[in-house]
Amino acid sequence: MKILVTGGTGYIGSHTVVELQTKGHEVIIVDNLSNSSAEIADKIALITGVKPRLEIFDLTDGNRTSDFFERNNDIAGVIHFAAFKAVGESVQKPLLYYQNNLTSLINILQGMNDNGIQNIVFSSSCTVYGQPDELPVSESAPIKIAESPYGNTKQISEEIIKDTINTSDLHAIALRYFNPIGAHETALIGELPIGVPNNLVPFITQTAIGIRDYLSVFGDTYPTPDGTAIRDYIHVVDLAKAHVIAVDRMLNDKMKTDFEVFNLGTGFGYSVLEVINSFEKVTGLKLNYKIVDRREGDITQVWADPEYSNKELGWKAEKGIDEMNLSAWKWEMAYQESKK
Ligand code: NAD
Ligand code: WQD
Repeated sequence: MKILVTGGTGYIGSHTVVELQTKGHEVIIVDNLSNSSAEIADKIALITGVKPRLEIFDLTDGNRTSDFFERNNDIAGVIHFAAFKAVGESVQKPLLYYQNNLTSLINILQGMNDNGIQNIVFSSSCTVYGQPDELPVSESAPIKIAESPYGNTKQISEEIIKDTINTSDLHAIALRYFNPIGAHETALIGELPIGVPNNLVPFITQTAIGIRDYLSVFGDTYPTPDGTAIRDYIHVVDLAKAHVIAVDRMLNDKMKTDFEVFNLGTGFGYSVLEVINSFEKVTGLKLNYKIVDRREGDITQVWADPEYSNKELGWKAEKGIDEMNLSAWKWEMAYQESKK
């Protein structure tokens, strides 16, 4: 089946393209390369033996997007990753985030509607739950007021999709990711943050390889066993595999309702210090870190209830925290080596 992957040269998108191709799907990537590079298509080809078609344009451009869908009206399904994702930047530049994340979604839904394309998988986030009242957090937990414009774009996007479904033949699956980390086992693709990383694991690997002097651990006075904040880290390849299952579920008419939501997490929470300990164990390195103040906007703890995804999708995250850290480290080393 022909699948459009928007943002397919990005971190999660590239891993998903690999899994789609491995399962025999034909992939077209649309990406404006605002946070990735065209070389990723070559890396994907090295892994799978097939270079995905890459069209480079901005999905906020209504005319380009509409023209794309007219030319490709045989697409069976869309996986929509393309978005800006930096929480802090979204607070500084809210209009940029609303413009990019919402306009691109609207243009895609319009293009799909106009050309009879009915299936979309949408990248949502556990950020929609804020600090949940109950843990683990299930899909039926209340959506909290968004803590950032970025988080708000995910909430509004889910609403836009639901409203569109009410007036069209659209089917959608929103996948709410917890904290994706790690890289492909070949170390050919992985996470490529621009500038100073915001996220924990890229900061750890960049510190270990000597790009950063030390990791700041944001707070050790949280009401958790070791005082540091807890998250549900999930290997990006496990996440990617869930997208293939979701898209196949739609194409095979297995959906229970026209709009479905699934948590993609492992169901296990790890504290910042536990992640560091795991990293040190699997790499044999000593990480330089300092405890500093809490980061504004951070929640204390969240981990997924993945039971519904496990049951309905027949999917389960398989890779543990050690494997996640080791793959992230191998990717960092391979990437720095490739730049020499
Ligand atoms: P990423 O930045 O690596 O990939 C996004 C890709 O989309 C990039 O290649 C970028 O160039 C492209 N893009 C952005 N705006 C575009 C536009 N207007 N037109 C065309 N291409 C555009 O990010 P990622 O980590 O792979 O995240 C993918 C999706 O998953 C995003 O929607 C993100 O919000 C969501 N998500 C990510 C995380 C995470 O921690 N990485 C967690 C939850 C949800
Ligand atoms: C993880 C933990 C930090 C960096 C973000 C988004 C969320 C989702 C995933 C997209 C926290 C601590 C971090 C550092 C640290 N993205 N930390 N030192 O904040 O859970 O989630 O990415 O949808 O919406 O908010 O991920 O990797 O930034 O932080 O101590 O240098 O590591 O305080 O406890 P987060 P993260």
